[in-house]
Amino acid sequence: MTGPHSHAQAPARPLEGRKLLLCVGGGIAAYKSLELVRRLRDAGARVQVAMTEGAQQFVTPLSFQALSGQPVRTTLWDGAAEQAMGHIELARWADRVVIAPATADLLARLANGHADDLVTTLCLATTAPVTVCPAMNHRMWLHPATQANLALLRGRGVQVIGPEDGPLAEGESGPGRLSEPDAIVAALAADPVPAAAPDRLNGVRVLISAGPTYEDLDPVRYVGNRSSGKMGYALAAAAARRGAQVVLVSGPVQIATPPGVRRIDVRSAAQMREAVLAELPADIYIGAAAVADYTPQQVSPQKLKKTPGSHTLVLELVRTADILAEVAAQEDALKLVVGFAAETHDVEKYARGKLVDKHLDLIIANQVGIAGGGFESDQNAATAYWADGQRDFPGTAKTQLAEQLLDLITERLDA
Ligand code: CTP
Repeated sequence: MTGPHSHAQAPARPLEGRKLLLCVGGGIAAYKSLELVRRLRDAGARVQVAMTEGAQQFVTPLSFQALSGQPVRTTLWDGAAEQAMGHIELARWADRVVIAPATADLLARLANGHADDLVTTLCLATTAPVTVCPAMNHRMWLHPATQANLALLRGRGVQVIGPEDGPLAEGESGPGRLSEPDAIVAALAADPVPAAAPDRLNGVRVLISAGPTYEDLDPVRYVGNRSSGKMGYALAAAAARRGAQVVLVSGPVQIATPPGVRRIDVRSAAQMREAVLAELPADIYIGAAAVADYTPQQVSPQKLKKTPGSHTLVLELVRTADILAEVAAQEDALKLVVGFAAETHDVEKYARGKLVDKHLDLIIANQVGIAGGGFESDQNAATAYWADGQRDFPGTAKTQLAEQLLDLITERLDA
């Protein structure tokens, strides 16, 4: 398209519609956050700003108010501001919380779960993903205490952007500079979590099983499987962000509990069954766990010893109860029951077979044994089947797939 009135293509707005809560910490880099607000808005985001007391020593709330076009929150104890939008409401409003600059002290308080001012309280009260953009003196950044706090936050799924290496305010040089606003916008835009539809599952009770089960043979050995739990945890995180009351019954995994999720740890299939049944009724059950189909007939109270002269060992296994089928049989206790199926071949035939046999409302089938998917991967591709329909989900990040599956689950709940 050319012509005298044609415009150059509008700049991409990679954060269109995103609701960002920018928490400004007390460091000299706070002045750069003014520019960050402008860039975030240029990228399409709606921005609300909260400031620590320290931040107000460097930049005035009025500057942020002018740039964000929104009232700026500075304290928990402001009756008028609380009446307009309570801090819990603000924490729920955000679909991401960005802390820039994040000082060493603020990182320490976040790592320890403090709620002694507005910003830390917002961070504790939100179920939205949190991004920190650290900025501080390089010795403070490299201190083991700061690094340990960072590791804790990372372990909880906090995204860390920067800091950059370069000249610092005190005339020294090293890692500690706040990332440039453009780099922060780019990192936020690259994040695969889309703007959540926060209220679509508001108050809905979602019970999810995730991870493997370990079936003990003796005090030191077990039979297990390679499920990472990532898919179930991603579903739990996404459902919590949409306002659901999420209970996650989890086998042994190495993943942090998503914010806003109540987690119950179990080990064996029998324990998982007991925990799941105890949590009923619920609105939705999602059986994402890779439950052992068989468990040792006997658990030896003592360590099994090698039998001299014998080259083989035969283990006798017995079937476990099918938790999913048992849950689905309790028709009055649930509105929607969703199962998973991992198949290497004839995916539709086997998945539909399980849908019917276990009386499920929906089954999500993964083809396993192909590159780029499956148990330990961050990626997955799936096809969902229900009585009179199906939907393909091409290969994507498990976090993204979780959002798409929840869209479908919400549709089926309303159907
Ligand atoms: N499931 C369960 N309890 C079991 C076994 C499986 O709740 N004891 C659930 C899983 O959480 C998953 C689904 O059932 O949602 C998987 O179905 P299943 O028939 O067990 O699949 P496979 O183990 O792959 O079975 P098969 O070997 O027959 O294909």
